[in-house]
Amino acid sequence: MKFTILIIDDEKNIREGLAANFELEDYNVKTAASGEEGLEYVSKGDIDLVISDLRMNGMGGEEVLQRVTAQTPGVPVIILTGHGDVNSAVDAMRHGAYDFLLKPVDLDQLTMIVKRALENRQLRLEHQQLKKEVEDSSAFSTMIGKSSAIMKMQETIRKVAESRASVLITGESGVGKELVARAIHNYSSRKAKEMINVHCAALSETLLESELFGHEKGAFTGADHLKKGRFELAHGSTIFLDEIGEINQSVQIKILRVLQERRFERVGGEQTIEVDVRVVAATNRNLEEEVKKGRFREDLYYRLNVVHIHVPPLRERKEDIPLLIQSFLDEFNRENSKNITGLDSKAKSAMFKYDWPGNIRELRNCMESAVVMCSGDHITIDDLPPGIAKKSEGEVITVPLGQTLEETEKTVILENLAANRNNKSKTADLLGIGRKTLQRKLSEWGIDNSGE
Ligand SMILES: Nc1ncnc2c1ncn2[C@@H]1O[C@H](COP(=O)(O)OP(=O)(O)OP(=O)(O)O)[C@@H](O)[C@H]1O
Ligand SMILES: [Mg+2]
Repeated sequence: MKFTILIIDDEKNIREGLAANFELEDYNVKTAASGEEGLEYVSKGDIDLVISDLRMNGMGGEEVLQRVTAQTPGVPVIILTGHGDVNSAVDAMRHGAYDFLLKPVDLDQLTMIVKRALENRQLRLEHQQLKKEVEDSSAFSTMIGKSSAIMKMQETIRKVAESRASVLITGESGVGKELVARAIHNYSSRKAKEMINVHCAALSETLLESELFGHEKGAFTGADHLKKGRFELAHGSTIFLDEIGEINQSVQIKILRVLQERRFERVGGEQTIEVDVRVVAATNRNLEEEVKKGRFREDLYYRLNVVHIHVPPLRERKEDIPLLIQSFLDEFNRENSKNITGLDSKAKSAMFKYDWPGNIRELRNCMESAVVMCSGDHITIDDLPPGIAKKSEGEVITVPLGQTLEETEKTVILENLAANRNNKSKTADLLGIGRKTLQRKLSEWGIDNSGE
């Protein structure tokens, strides 16, 4: 890693002398004749270390130090100073300068200090990176997929996780909405406490109300003890309201109040309970439509929909299918003590052609039954559920009049390649042929478009 050093000094000689020295030491060097100019580099964010003169016309070294530590904490600042200013330099150390050096500068000494500071920085950066990777892998460990849709979703999750903004997750059944909710929670510091799940559709109106808000002893017949509600239990954590589209108007009003004021009363209770809760809700209904029809409160819809994450159906990200297949194959091999190594090309092709209306849940179920059914080391078309196996027969492609079969084959292959941005592995998978076969055909036709 090549580090970039910024040198700020209003004396041209010093600036250039230092620059030449550090360029020889194989660092990237940027120079600035004033604090103001230097900070422009800093705010662009690609500076790893700052060497700044203390006394300059305009902005002095102290202010440079202050701004750098505020803008880019972790970037070491080394202060250069004349003999008369040692006290100010010591003061700068107190305010977070990495070190200071008296002028005239001893180049060897300065180089040594810079090296040490950057070694520290490198260690810290590596540590941060490692920490981030570990966090990523645990937060997203169950979310398989490398499609741009999934990557974008993970990016959004990362961005919004730490805030308390409500999130509305929409998408068809089985796309992984619950997984997204879990990732948001796991990626935030709220993960220290468990996420509280409420399956809104599963509970009757009265039950849902006392589940969410709790009840006092004697609030209604059968309430023979005080019960804390899920909102109360979710204090300091996340509450996941699954199938929020199913709740009735009276509960909608109560949830709205919690979102607005972060407070509520238990059923039959007087005492107001304040909570710090992050609300994540999910639905496979079109809530906007429900609002128009007057079935869902508009104000609640907007409160929930501060951040919107739409999980696209599997048919719109078919490139995730191979990874999902592999992951479920591993899982069910383990569970059934089998050692199936993959799918034959016909089975693979059928899985690709199928539209997966039940999305990932359906794919997972399909893989589970296929693993159980399979008696060889490869899953074949006969191991797949009939609805999916049917797809291997495929649509009939007719050979246009005047074209040979080979010409038609070529057209189909090239169209698929183009549709998959020249990704040969993906195209071969989609067409149910081996990548090598595809490559051979392309070479025979004198086409060698490099691509994955
Ligand atoms: N990206 C993914 N990687 C691995 N497994 C996934 C992924 N997305 C979903 N799944 C799995 O698919 C199944 C369905 O996911 P989930 O329950 O989150 O869907 P949902 O959108 O909440 O569906 P519903 O609307 O029916 O409740 C679960 O077993 C989940 O673990
Ligand atoms: Mg769900």
